[in-house]
Amino acid sequence: MARPGLTNDADVRSLASNALLRLFDSLYEGAVVVDRAGRITWINDKYKALIGWNGADPVEGRMVEEVIPNSRLRHVMESGRAELLDVFAIGSRQVVVSRIPLQDESGAVIGGLGVILYDRVQALKPIVSKFQQLQADLASARRELAETRQAKYRFSQMVGLSSRLRDVKEQARRAAERDATVLLLGETGTGKELMAHAIHGASRRADKPLVGLNAAAIPETLLESELFGVEPGAYTGAGTKPRPGKFQLADGGTLFLDEVGDMPLMLQAKLLRVLQEGEVEPIGSTRLRTIDVRVIAATSRDLKAMVDAGGFRADLYYRLNVLPIRLPPLRERLEDLPVLCEALLEQIAEKAGEPVKSVSAAGLARLAAYHWPGNVRELGNILQLAAARHDVRLLGAEHFDDLPVTAPVAAQAIEGEVRALRDAVAAAEKAEIVKGLAAAHGVKLNAAKLLHISRAQLYEKLAAHGLLSETPDRKEAV
Ligand SMILES: Nc1ncnc2c1ncn2[C@@H]1O[C@H](COP(=O)(O)OP(=O)(O)OP(=O)(O)O)[C@@H](O)[C@H]1O
Ligand SMILES: [Mg+2]
Repeated sequence: MARPGLTNDADVRSLASNALLRLFDSLYEGAVVVDRAGRITWINDKYKALIGWNGADPVEGRMVEEVIPNSRLRHVMESGRAELLDVFAIGSRQVVVSRIPLQDESGAVIGGLGVILYDRVQALKPIVSKFQQLQADLASARRELAETRQAKYRFSQMVGLSSRLRDVKEQARRAAERDATVLLLGETGTGKELMAHAIHGASRRADKPLVGLNAAAIPETLLESELFGVEPGAYTGAGTKPRPGKFQLADGGTLFLDEVGDMPLMLQAKLLRVLQEGEVEPIGSTRLRTIDVRVIAATSRDLKAMVDAGGFRADLYYRLNVLPIRLPPLRERLEDLPVLCEALLEQIAEKAGEPVKSVSAAGLARLAAYHWPGNVRELGNILQLAAARHDVRLLGAEHFDDLPVTAPVAAQAIEGEVRALRDAVAAAEKAEIVKGLAAAHGVKLNAAKLLHISRAQLYEKLAAHGLLSETPDRKEAV
């Protein structure tokens, strides 16, 4: 409302703008107003002092850049968008500024206002350095995350000299060169995860992410969103930002679908579609997203039997079973026991920061008599326990006393069906030879001694049991 004595709107406006300019003058460390052409129409004394303008020459009417070099007011007027916080250099000083385009009622830009909010950026240093620290932390966390998405293991870390393992590694190397889906089959602890990493690391996708998802470890209700992602507002509590699924995170790289046999049937259908189409549809989205992902699936279950029993979709099974690789159980490659013990004990010692222990020939024979349902993982655990419990450099049979003797032959002898005596004797002989070789670290002469037969007899028996090609001659002393 107009005060008595003021007659028209123009007077009120002029009074208001004068009041505003006085307010700017008192509030800010500097303030400047330019017209549409970028000419200064008003500047306060504090600003003039800051730029070192000496009193005599009028500033008003000059182009803003002439008075304030590098001024961005013209840019703000052209874009029509305010810059509310910026750090600006005036001479050697850093100041915090705001720039606002001035518009008339129709929205047309008629000028610009620049204010210096703060002329002591120095005082902001603690906040700035905190911000910089946070940014550095974020960058390093991102780097770490990227690293954890890289392959952790290489083929060389898959220890074993048996022909079974060498064949499997060869298959995996060939699979790595291709881009087809790989299905890793094998009992628990046989090294499926290790193999998945090695395949990714040797593939053309090695510098892209390797993203894992364990279908057995995630509640059924969350599996779908974990795999395919969620759009904002897809359901109550879905959040306001889109959440990418594992497929999307693995784009360009490899998705390791662990325990795929534990995937619910409903999701199996959706997974099959994604594998066939190469497209995912996040929950709550109507848009399909193209993805380029190589899938490595693994399971310790008998997938084929699950298909026959109706627990796993046949079409998905065939879609996954493009390059199947079967990891042999430890009990079927006992020749690998010596090198595995060596490698695992090295790892154990390194972790504990203690000298490396080893297993004696008798100790190895004792280990070979067990059937290792948990395979290499279990072997690692047993060795760790023995190494921690016994303060000796060489672990012998007596240090594995807790381990039951359950080698397949022993178990079969008691529980299995009755066989022809000749077959049973042959099986027992074969098992003993394998055990002997394991205990002798693959050195045949020593194995022959342990078995109380001649080297020539051992060769004959190895040939008879089809073991000759599986036992490369290791001549090194043990
Ligand atoms: N050939 C091997 N050489 C060295 N270490 C191995 C080998 N195979 C497996 N391991 C080790 O054994 C442990 C179990 O391996 P991994 O987790 O890959 O098995 P898995 O088949 O995925 O088992 P699960 O089915 O229980 O998930 C790991 O610590 C792994 O490093
Ligand atoms: Mg695993």
